[in-house]
Amino acid sequence: MADAFIEIASVSKVFGSVTAVDNISLSIRKGEFFSLLGPSGCGKTTLLRVLGGFETPSDGKVMIEGQEVTHMPAHLRPTNMVFQNYAIFPHLNVEQNVAYGLRQQKLSREAQAEKVSAALSMVQLEGFEKRGADEMSGGQKQRVALARALIKRPKVLLLDEPLGALDKKLREEMQIELRLLQQQVGITVVFVTHDQEEALTLSDRIAVMSEGRILQNAPPREIYERPCSRAVADFIGQMNLLDGIIESVGEQVLVSSPELGSVSVDSNNQTVRAGDAVTLAVRPENLSLSDNPAPGGLAVTLTASSYFGDTTHYRVSPLQGDGSTLDVSQQDYQGSDRSGDQAWLHFDSRNFLLLKD
Ligand SMILES: Nc1ncnc2c1ncn2[C@@H]1O[C@H](COP(=O)(O)OP(=O)(O)OP(=O)(O)O)[C@@H](O)[C@H]1O
Ligand SMILES: [Mg+2]
Repeated sequence: MADAFIEIASVSKVFGSVTAVDNISLSIRKGEFFSLLGPSGCGKTTLLRVLGGFETPSDGKVMIEGQEVTHMPAHLRPTNMVFQNYAIFPHLNVEQNVAYGLRQQKLSREAQAEKVSAALSMVQLEGFEKRGADEMSGGQKQRVALARALIKRPKVLLLDEPLGALDKKLREEMQIELRLLQQQVGITVVFVTHDQEEALTLSDRIAVMSEGRILQNAPPREIYERPCSRAVADFIGQMNLLDGIIESVGEQVLVSSPELGSVSVDSNNQTVRAGDAVTLAVRPENLSLSDNPAPGGLAVTLTASSYFGDTTHYRVSPLQGDGSTLDVSQQDYQGSDRSGDQAWLHFDSRNFLLLKD
């Protein structure tokens, strides 16, 4: 990448028999909000620690601003890391914890106090200056750790699940704060999370990881709308995944599935041949239910429904097929919604995504 600010080149990290990071190459631009997203144990923290200088890669190299930093100690890098377990100093109060980030700068007491209170207000902890570290909740400690990292205004902020211990409302507020701050100050952020919604809302780009590798690296909309594999589709949001066999390949691809019969879909840039086993992916919000058998409707049996306020989620089982179920999310289905009732499922096959693996 021509404008790469951080460059990770063929980096691996092996611990004994575990390959935590498996030959990852990745470029991050200046000012980008980049997220590493993936299930527990997929190597997110390890990769972040390699970037921060807390882990030496077994292979490959790391460049920041054109300078190789692979073996540079953490304190000499233009990075600052907030650790997953919100490490703050237990023997210091909140103010001292946050000001710790400024220890190398020669600041007057007033200037320091001003910066500390600005950082604390960013994480909504005004007035907590004198509180002891052990008198804070998990979420509060996490916010102190974040303030301590923010106060130095590092070029690169490495955040390992920094909002994990916060309740939903506070987490959403902090997400907005973080995004604003990152845009105003132009910090490059590498953000680790296993929460896909958080990654989708916050990021300019997301790398979806699994078992030490990157499955897809793309902007949130692309990750959500065009996942590149069944694994990514399955991990990001709710997705119906149907097995199918390619019948024929022309301008459109004809796929037959036990539940839907034959459907014609876009090739999604996949190279397929007649007879190939594929997956058809479709979001619950792209399916709908009705009481009447309009053309193209598929007879289904309702097996469950749950009310979410703004939408209702239905699980249905097509009458044809092998008993597998589909999830439908819909605002205004007025029909009967008791388990065992019959309804009609409608879809537009343009919303189906063809996936090869
Ligand atoms: N110091 C270590 N020694 C041995 N194995 C390690 C070490 N650190 C990490 N691992 C292993 O490497 C793999 C990746 O761990 P890592 O902490 O990077 O995962 P993660 O994606 O951050 O997971 P989580 O979401 O649970 O925090 C795991 O199998 C883990 O057990
Ligand atoms: Mg981790």
